[in-house]
Amino acid sequence: MILRDLNYDIHITNNNHLLLIEKLRNYARVFIVTDAHVYTLHQDFFNDVFDMKKTVIHVIKPGETSKSLEVYQTICDNFLDHQIKRDDVIIAVGGGVVGDLAGFVAASLLRGVDFIQVPTTLLAMVDSSVGSKVGINTRQGKNLIGHFYDPSFVHIDVNFLNTLTKRERHNGYAEIIKASLIGDSELFNQLKNPKHPIEEVIRRALQVKIDIVKKDPFESHERMFLNFGHTLGHAIEKVMNYETIKHGEAISHGMMYAIKKGIEYQITEHTLEREVENLLNQYELLNIQIGDIEMYEKQMQSDKKQRKDGLQFVLIQSIGNPFIKII
Ligand SMILES: NC(=O)c1ccc[n+]([C@@H]2O[C@H](COP(=O)([O-])OP(=O)(O)OC[C@H]3O[C@@H](n4cnc5c(N)ncnc54)[C@H](O)[C@@H]3O)[C@@H](O)[C@H]2O)c1
Repeated sequence: MILRDLNYDIHITNNNHLLLIEKLRNYARVFIVTDAHVYTLHQDFFNDVFDMKKTVIHVIKPGETSKSLEVYQTICDNFLDHQIKRDDVIIAVGGGVVGDLAGFVAASLLRGVDFIQVPTTLLAMVDSSVGSKVGINTRQGKNLIGHFYDPSFVHIDVNFLNTLTKRERHNGYAEIIKASLIGDSELFNQLKNPKHPIEEVIRRALQVKIDIVKKDPFESHERMFLNFGHTLGHAIEKVMNYETIKHGEAISHGMMYAIKKGIEYQITEHTLEREVENLLNQYELLNIQIGDIEMYEKQMQSDKKQRKDGLQFVLIQSIGNPFIKII
């Protein structure tokens, strides 16, 4: 299945790499960034797809700490030492960390080298590999250095999901549930059935993101809908220090908070509270106790002080109908 709505094609497959191999024929050499988990678990993929004679592989340490200036510098040095040229291609094979980091290398090295995303976590498949945001973290915060840089192709192979832990898989479902809440009520219903077809669910979640990104690529209005659940979610991640709670778990609490707020403001249908809570619990996304909400509200207020135009908070009126309220 191929989605063609953006400037680049998104191919969703189960273990068929022919299209990717065909794309690679356009390039003199291939420069891969991956992480040690993916590289160890998916040797077959690397051997089947890449011609090792024209490939350089850079393997990073797994985890968020690798999305740093230091690792960025190491990759640039390595690729330049191997004489990367503008007719080569950089490929990210990994989760959102590898995708954001390799994408930023591709956007900046030699003022832009073609870039292909091969997302290997569910979160990366439905979110970070599409939409063109790439970047790295600094000690002041996440994603503070970055770019909007289109990949030339996104290759989503659901076969990678077989080696993900249950918690990592559920982490990705949080973004799928979010996509359904802001844009696809049919997807919301599909997710209630644990035996849903995964490729179809990924396609639908991506379509919600694609439709929004197409209208507002640089995040001036509609793209903010994608932040549903993220305002409180980011505050939770900051307070809990990114280690104890996963992004998907934090935004799940954030989505519940936004629904409760919406009910308070008489914007959101009150039946949604129970319905969404049930679905998030089905994917074990509310299991981590976050304690007193006031702590996170304070963090949200301090984030708000940094903006001149108040905090743009995303609510939903009903499933598929998002709404921005300045608070
Ligand atoms: N650019 C965007 O639009 C965007 C959107 C959302 C999130 N992000 C970024 O994405 C990052 C989070 O991405 P993530 O959740 O994929 O994290 P991640 O890349 O750290 O991957 C999570 C873990 O899963 C492992 N892993 C990856 N693929 C695997 C596989 N197939 N089998 C087994 N283990 C595997 C990784 O080694 C890692 O330990 C954050 O840095 C976030 O800021 C970016």
